[in-house]
Amino acid sequence: MRILAIETSCDETAVALVEGNKVGNGTSFKVIGNALYSQAETHSEFGGVFPMLAKREHAKNIVSLFASCIEQVRSYDKKHSPNDVKRQILETLSEETKKKVEKVLEREDDLYEDLILFLEGFKEGEKFELPHIDAIAVTAGPGLEPTLWVGISFAIALGVIFDLPVLPINHMEGHIASILSSDSDDSVGTIEFPALALLISGGHTEIVDIESWGSYKVIGRTKDDAIGEAFDKVARILGLGYPGGPEISKRAKEHRDAELIHKTNPILADFDLTLPRPMLKTLDFDFSFSGLKTAVLYLVRDIKKKLVEKGILASYEEHLPKEIVSAISAEFEHAVTEVLVYKTSKAIDQIQTKTLILGGGVVANDFIRESFANLIDDINKQRMEMDAIALRIPPIKQSTDNAVMIGTIACVRALNDEQYMSQNAIDTKKLDQGLQVSDLIVADGNLSL
Ligand code: KG4
Ligand code: ZN
Repeated sequence: MRILAIETSCDETAVALVEGNKVGNGTSFKVIGNALYSQAETHSEFGGVFPMLAKREHAKNIVSLFASCIEQVRSYDKKHSPNDVKRQILETLSEETKKKVEKVLEREDDLYEDLILFLEGFKEGEKFELPHIDAIAVTAGPGLEPTLWVGISFAIALGVIFDLPVLPINHMEGHIASILSSDSDDSVGTIEFPALALLISGGHTEIVDIESWGSYKVIGRTKDDAIGEAFDKVARILGLGYPGGPEISKRAKEHRDAELIHKTNPILADFDLTLPRPMLKTLDFDFSFSGLKTAVLYLVRDIKKKLVEKGILASYEEHLPKEIVSAISAEFEHAVTEVLVYKTSKAIDQIQTKTLILGGGVVANDFIRESFANLIDDINKQRMEMDAIALRIPPIKQSTDNAVMIGTIACVRALNDEQYMSQNAIDTKKLDQGLQVSDLIVADGNLSL
């Protein structure tokens, strides 16, 4: 089964083609096309993502990403099965189809013009050829609603043009599935259920009890900021760029690598940098990171006050010295990791599980990856081999937002549940009955698992 996947939930625009096949108990995956553009640099000067700017950027870039993905699939097909390439040759688009597509894309700036130009703008006598695809999967939420609409409208437009079904996908379910496929190999993915997933991203911090694919119970969540949001906000307080996670992680590592030097650093020796470990004592699996962010804010304010008094800083507006920024980054990373590890280990104690899955952009953090590897090692040392827990962490590149994970979960669900397609696929012909795009799929910023 071949899925064309589209992801626009935040500031990554991505299009991928994933092929999934049933192999024994598992599913094998091949990433045949993968094109991604990160808008991080566009947003970095504002210290966060501006939804309307992000929406415009998605609309501007999605056609060329689609083109690049399709080109990769074409060369794959030519190389691997030159005599057996199934494809759809696009005959001239009728005025009626164009009208329909224009209506679908009416709110997306120049996307309609870009798409038509791409599909029709070939040399005389040449036509656009779509490689074989079974369905289009698109992120329907959670995320930023204005940006989700770009992906949804684009998916439906392609569905209309090529008469393909469209599958709305939950982005967080995609993050869970990101452990199954990787860009670099022909991976066969299985997960031993029941499993627990810790999902940590820019919008979410959740512990999910998974009985099987499609059967999820969120048993713990953040009461305020998500962990990635906390990384981003603390980075801003420290004068670092967006996204804050990688910036903080880099500074924290510098601090750990140079700890001895720092111990004897006269500026650092003057301050107690210890931060709180929020919710560590509560009996539930919930999290809270907003107090920690405020603690960093106060700490930075106090340190700046002293440094201004001592004449080390000229004013409050100046950034803290590099070694203090690195030391606070390390302490912050340590505090959040301790909370994540502790809460997850409590969940493992109380809920029967065979697998621990990590998912979401914050999983790109090396310190967090290592800490969970150590946790599972320690737990397994105390268990019989048959009760050992498998730790599944996606490759770093697959941790942050991408379309491969959206195609992967669509394949997993469709291949493991005969009803999935008939119950979930959207038939774009319904637009002929006077329905609107929003009657078919709704962008849901708060979509839950
Ligand atoms: O999953 P994701 O790409 O987008 C959402 O679905 O939100 O996660 C983005 C978040 C951002 O907050 C970013 O700062 C964080 O993941 N992140 C990291 C690292 N790389 C990305 N946080 C900590 N350490 C990292 N290395
Ligand atoms: Zn995400």
